[in-house]
Amino acid sequence: MKNIVLIGFMGCGKTVVASQLARILGMKVIDVDTEIEKSAEMTINEIFKQFGEPRFREIETETIKQVSENNNVIISTGGGAVLKQENMDAMRGKGVIVCLNAAPETILERTKSTRDRPLLIVEKPLERIKKLLEFRKPFYEKADIMIDTESKTPLEIAEEIIERIKQ
Ligand code: S3P
Repeated sequence: MKNIVLIGFMGCGKTVVASQLARILGMKVIDVDTEIEKSAEMTINEIFKQFGEPRFREIETETIKQVSENNNVIISTGGGAVLKQENMDAMRGKGVIVCLNAAPETILERTKSTRDRPLLIVEKPLERIKKLLEFRKPFYEKADIMIDTESKTPLEIAEEIIERIKQ
C-alpha cells in the first residue's frame, strides 16, 4: 500500500479524516504540523511569530521530506504544504495525494473557535480564506484524487477515499 497523503485547506478535515483512515486501514498517522511542533519544541503560532512564515515553510519542507521516506503511513499535511513543488514531489514519491475540499463558509465555521492558525488570526477571516483559497486552487488541483467534504462525516470521507484509491 502506498502512503496516503492528505492535502487541503485549513479546516477541510485532514486530521479527523486521517484518524478514520488509520483506524479502518490499520495504518499509522504522521501529522506534519505535529512533527514540526515536536522538533521545534514550539507551537506553529510561536514559530510564525518568532521566525516568520518563510522560516516556517523551510522547516515544513524539511519535515515533509523526512516523513515522506516512510512506508505504509497516512501523512496529514498543513494547508500550505502544496505551495512548493519540492514538497509535492517528495509526498508523491511513495504516496497517493488526496485533496480535501470545502466551501469558504464551511472552513470559517470549522476554524473560528480556535486561534492556532496564524494565517486566520485577522479581522476578516472569511475574506482571507477566500483570497488564500483562490490563490491556492491550482496547487490543490495537483492532487491525484479530489474529495468534496461538504455535508459528509469524516467516516464517509474516509470510505470515499478508500474506494477511490482502489479504482
Ligand atoms: C497553514 C495551515 C496549518 C499550519 C499553518 C499554515 C496554511 O495547518 O500548517 O498554520 O498555510 O494553510 P492546517 O491546514 O492543519 O490547519
